[in-house]
Amino acid sequence: MPTIITFKNVNKTYDDTGQVVLKDINLDIQEGQFVTLLGASGSGKTTILNIIAGLLDATSGDVLLDGKRINDVPANQRNVHTIFQSYALFPNMTVGENVAFALKLQGLPKAEITRRVSETLTLVQLAGFENRSIAKLSGGQKQRVAIARAIIDQPRVLLLDESLSALDHKLRKDMQYELREIQQATGITFVFVTHDQEEALAMSDWIFVMKDGEIVQSGTPTDIYDEPINHFVADFIGESNILEGNMIADYRVSFNGQIFDAVDGGMRPNEAIEVVIRPEDLWFTLPDEGKFNVRVDTQLFRGVHYEIVATDDFNNEWLIHSTHKALVGETVGLDFEPEAIHIMRLHESEEEFDARIEEYVDDSVDPSEDGLVAAVKEEEAEEEAAVLEALAEKLENTMDITELAKEIDEKLNDGNKI
Ligand SMILES: Nc1ncnc2c1ncn2[C@@H]1O[C@H](COP(=O)(O)OP(=O)(O)OP(=O)(O)O)[C@@H](O)[C@H]1O
Ligand SMILES: [Mg+2]
Repeated sequence: MPTIITFKNVNKTYDDTGQVVLKDINLDIQEGQFVTLLGASGSGKTTILNIIAGLLDATSGDVLLDGKRINDVPANQRNVHTIFQSYALFPNMTVGENVAFALKLQGLPKAEITRRVSETLTLVQLAGFENRSIAKLSGGQKQRVAIARAIIDQPRVLLLDESLSALDHKLRKDMQYELREIQQATGITFVFVTHDQEEALAMSDWIFVMKDGEIVQSGTPTDIYDEPINHFVADFIGESNILEGNMIADYRVSFNGQIFDAVDGGMRPNEAIEVVIRPEDLWFTLPDEGKFNVRVDTQLFRGVHYEIVATDDFNNEWLIHSTHKALVGETVGLDFEPEAIHIMRLHESEEEFDARIEEYVDDSVDPSEDGLVAAVKEEEAEEEAAVLEALAEKLENTMDITELAKEIDEKLNDGNKI
């Protein structure tokens, strides 16, 4: 996939306030991807969008579109469109006239404009809305008109600034799916801005996490969720358990007064680190049968799971997602796999982090990367191996071969569920 937008050492300082709002931003955006700038209010997301759009000049550094420097190219010659949070529709025009706008400017024949407006309205699920006035649209419909108007002339890049934040919860979820579908159907590169981490994880091919005018981490949603670079990202991107610890040696980490197996390495012996463990990676055992015991403090039902807060002997609070109901006040064991322990260095650049993760974490075996069918096949293969092993054992104890064959057949045909 070729790179469509590049920032090289881009800085932005506002003359009037003297505030540095972008600090040495370097980024590459790949063509045809759904890319998200994720960060808290004031982190510089809109500033980056405006620099891409040509609505704002960088104070220093280079901005490239398709490999060419565009710092001095005016906004209307960049073939980049923006969807603003207000949608900025033309109120005195119909839906059709709004959507047709860019094509009329190009002076295309009327019949072609009519055809393309109709096609584009169908794509955003507003077929037949051509003659509707803008005032008679719901918020979601206005959003769709704004999208249609922005994509009809196939821009190189579409910039969307907090586009979904004005919509109610249910509509927002629906629009997340739709935006993603529209992006995939058109192949246009989308650069989307949000401060909502769930939205970013759900929609993006690639995420840039921003803080105070800097990019703190970039990667796929799974990269960022599974391997947050530091406390800030781990905390910002989802509910986590974050603890202080020490890396005793490669693959050996200590926290909570105990030493645990881990899958990371590459630190100095005894280096102080932080550990993050996601609530869904923890499970309960009988007392004394897990890694350590915890006492259940509170429990909330969240529909798919219970959200449980429990305290260990060191007074650390643990957040646990469990499909089992707990009793407040009971003491239980808590357990997890070495893979659930994510190690974060206290000070590490993104380059150092990437190199370390590359070397020590083997993510080539994650079946979820290959989809459900591959995951089910892998499970079946494991089951089959277990059945064959059992067969070998039974043969040793000489059992009737027909009975045994039937038993195996039944066991093997039991699976195949997604
Ligand atoms: N025209 C301006 N003059 C001076 N400072 C500005 C101007 N526009 C933005 N800023 C400052 O630049 C910083 C980054 O602003 P920006 O709008 O890029 O943040 P953001 O990440 O989009 O935030 P939000 O989520 O609130 O929209 C903020 O501290 C803001 O106060
Ligand atoms: Mg903004």
